[in-house]
Amino acid sequence: MKVLVLGPGGREHAIIRALLKDPQVSEVHAAPGNAGIADLVPTHQINANDPAEVLALATKLTPDLVIIGPEAPLAAGVSDILRDAGFNVFGPSQEAAQLEASKAFAKQIMAAANVPTAMAKVANNRDEAEEALDTFGAPYVVKDDGLAAGKGVVVTEDRDVALAHAEECFAAGGTVVIEEYLDGPEVSLFVISDGRTALPLQPAQDFKRIFNNDEGPNTGGMGAYTPLDWAPAGLVDEVMNRIALPTIEEMARRGTPFVGVLYVGLALTSRGTRVVEFNARFGDPETQAVLARLKTPLGQLLLAAATGQLDEDEQLNWDPRPAVAVVLASANYPDTPRTGDRIRGVKKANRLPDVHVLHAGTKRDDGDKLLSAGGRVLAVVALGEDLVQAREEAYAGMDLIELEGGQFRTDIAAKAAAGKIQVPGASDSASTGGVR
Ligand code: AMP
Ligand code: GLY
Repeated sequence: MKVLVLGPGGREHAIIRALLKDPQVSEVHAAPGNAGIADLVPTHQINANDPAEVLALATKLTPDLVIIGPEAPLAAGVSDILRDAGFNVFGPSQEAAQLEASKAFAKQIMAAANVPTAMAKVANNRDEAEEALDTFGAPYVVKDDGLAAGKGVVVTEDRDVALAHAEECFAAGGTVVIEEYLDGPEVSLFVISDGRTALPLQPAQDFKRIFNNDEGPNTGGMGAYTPLDWAPAGLVDEVMNRIALPTIEEMARRGTPFVGVLYVGLALTSRGTRVVEFNARFGDPETQAVLARLKTPLGQLLLAAATGQLDEDEQLNWDPRPAVAVVLASANYPDTPRTGDRIRGVKKANRLPDVHVLHAGTKRDDGDKLLSAGGRVLAVVALGEDLVQAREEAYAGMDLIELEGGQFRTDIAAKAAAGKIQVPGASDSASTGGVR
């Protein structure tokens, strides 16, 4: 089968790397891709957020499957125009992608499907914002209602900071969702859906803040690991039965079936499992870690989802070794990143056993030299016999890479590797058996 993958990032590099291991995938194209993707497959320099440009490319290439990586093309209706033209598309319609594009819509669906999430209020102005902040109290959680790649959320103890974020969103013509604070560790679970039924991948954990110890502003994600040995046994079943399947059923009932990957962002709180957010696509950088372990051929799995033929009883096949992904970001990220700097050492890192480098914001100059071209530049991914070893390998790879002003966290998966993650209310995580 011939596959076209849309998107420019590390997630797309991970997807393409996995596709190339699928014996039924004979040809892969990417648009626009990045320098690492261009080393693997032909890339096409179109605007992947423009439905007409994507349709023209697909019409030329005639892929058997189109995989849409990021949220922007989904929100722009790229999947709809492709589906209408008869292509098999892995990625939800514009309407179904509202689960990610509008926090308020996601809350409505969760209420209709009885899915546990944080209590929330939509605020349109300062008075409503103040009332909502005082209803829930500190810590305050204020979310821009639109697409913001995880960066539109402010979590703070400071009421003035919370209010200032709300006012910024109002000034930009938007609304905000203000909600109760959820304590407890976060989990990302990717659920592959064909619109009717669904199959979960293995859970991962993402590191959203820029600095160690979860300090500093939120980013798109600075690292990830999988699986989560500390998570309660039965977590995945609980999330499927109480969250993912009811949501997918509710979307189908409304005539807007969700075909693609439902990213369920969870908090394991003292009051139980709660949805923090839904996304309508694979997470970045969790995908870089999760797909490093998936042995089931990815192209066949995503084609089955795109064509309504997912087998909910299929047992996915996983490498038993854990995977860790550590992101290298540019200077000044998550603010306007510095770009155009030389990146060295990627080949050396790739030569380490069980280590691979996935590009995100990279490009090559005329002399074929590798340069930074975005906020998150690349991720070093490693498998190890245990998390301690996987971390060591990933950081050994990172040590070989040079980027002026580059930033990376040194504590990705550290707490989990040290057995120090506590699920509130779970007395003894060692007795839970973990999630495999
Ligand atoms: P979102 O864009 O909704 O995923 O939010 C980004 C990040 O903000 C999440 O991954 C959490 O770390 C944090 N966050 C969002 N909502 C809450 C909440 N209700 N309580 C605590 N932290 C939250
Ligand atoms: N890693 C967070 C996200 O993809 O939104």
